[in-house]
This record gives sequence, structure tokens and C-alpha cells, in this order.
Amino acid sequence: MAIPEIDKAHLPRHIAIIMDGNGRWAHQHGKSRAEGHEAGAKSVRAVVEACRELERVEALTLYAFSTENWRRSQGEIDTLFQLLSKYISLELDELHKEDIRVSVMGRMEGLGEQARRDLERCIALTDQNKSMLLNIAINYGGRAEIADAARSIAAEAARGALAVEDIDEACFARHLYVPDLPELDLLIRTSGEMRLSNFMLWQASYAEFVAMPTLWPDFRKEHLLEAIALYQSRHRRFGGR
Ligand code: IPE
Ligand code: IPE
Ligand code: MG
Repeated sequence: MAIPEIDKAHLPRHIAIIMDGNGRWAHQHGKSRAEGHEAGAKSVRAVVEACRELERVEALTLYAFSTENWRRSQGEIDTLFQLLSKYISLELDELHKEDIRVSVMGRMEGLGEQARRDLERCIALTDQNKSMLLNIAINYGGRAEIADAARSIAAEAARGALAVEDIDEACFARHLYVPDLPELDLLIRTSGEMRLSNFMLWQASYAEFVAMPTLWPDFRKEHLLEAIALYQSRHRRFGGR
């Protein structure tokens, strides 16, 4: 694939990726689903590196595990969380060296002890980093996020810390899992599926959606650049004309 031309002065500030197709990739290569997920971890490394190199991408959100993914077999779930721990132990120093801050978007309290400890280590170590935000969506559901925000707003209102008339879009956004995320500009889904699967329902409001046929383990820098080139070819109207 030729390296797509992009305009480095007009990059999306925030890119999110629904990393899909590990199972199909494994099937196509006669491998186990676990091997598919392992191959997918290499794509994560490539994409984080590529975004960091672009310099002006402020945030990259990766959908690692949905609130619905608990429906998978216990063996597959265990594999996914083992891979998360492995990824963190292999990559955390490099992320920190690259001045990348890590945040987690999802119900942390629903995770196992090990995953929670590993993620908390990432957050604590990289807390002051400034070059880019790597936001990991794990045990994440868009509906759960909206319900959790509503619950915390209601709790504040009930104890008198918030007036009902002050609940507006900005207030709501401040109660989401990661309140300081830049506006989502580009939402990519790999493997050709055309659905959101409960991802960033609030944030996707005016994001440009790019669905790519590439299976996640095959996704590399050139695919990211292709998605950015497509994004840059769109005319965003935001309801105006
Ligand atoms: C994405 O790949 C990984 C996760 C959802 C965690 P899948 O495992 O969904 O791969 P397919 O969709 O079965 O090919
Ligand atoms: C979405 O992919 C979740 C992640 C990428 C983590 P799924 O493979 O779980 O989505 P569906 O089941 O095809 O909607
Ligand atoms: Mg899938």
C-alpha cells in the first residue's frame, strides 16, 4: 500500500478506534482466537507510535473490552486480561519515555484485582505527561457511561452541591469517565463492521466515522494515515451549511 498523503497541519485532535476482527484474522490464518488477540497487541503498539509521531494528535482512545464482552467464554476473557497485563509490563516504560499520559475509560470497579492494579500503575506513573493521551476503554459501555454520569449528577443535586438548572451539556460532559477528553473527531472501526457496539455514544455525536475492511491484527501506520486522509477529505458541517 502506498503511504497516503495527509495534511499534518489539520490532524484530528482525538481519534478513537474500535479494534475489531482479531477472531476472524485468527480463523483466516488457522490460529486460535488467543493468537488473534496477541497479534492485535502488535497493532496497538504500531498505532500508538504512529499517533505520537504525528505530534498533534492530542488523544487516542482504544476500545479494548466492552461491557458486553463478558458474554465471551471465560478462557477468552482470561486471555484478553492476561494480554492487557503483558502489554502494560512491556510498554509502560516506553509510553512514559514518550511523555504519553494513560487514562482509563470504563467501570474500573468491575475489573479483576490484577487489571486494576496494572491500570492504576499506568495512570500514576504517567500522570504528569503531556505529549499525548492514551485513553484505554475497558469494561466500557456507552450506555453505562451515560447512566453513571446521570447517577453522579443526581447524587450531587440531592446533596445540594449542584442546582438542577445548572445541568447542561457541559455539566454532563464533566461527569463522564474522562472529563478532559478533547472533542472526538475521527472514529475508526476495523474489520468492516458498520456499528458502534455501544462505544462513545455521547462523544461520537459529530465524529467522522471511517469503517475499514482491514482486520485489526493487520492494521498498521499506513491504515491509520488512510483513515486520516479520508477524514481530511470530508466536509464537516456541524449542522450548519
Ligand atoms: C476484537 O476482535 C477484540 C475484542 C473485542 C476484545 P474480536 O474478538 O471481536 O474479533 P472478531 O470480531 O470475532 O473477528
Ligand atoms: C466491539 O467489538 C468491542 C471491542 C472492540 C472491544 P465486538 O466484536 O465486541 O462487537 P460486536 O459484538 O461485533 O458488536
Ligand atoms: Mg468482533
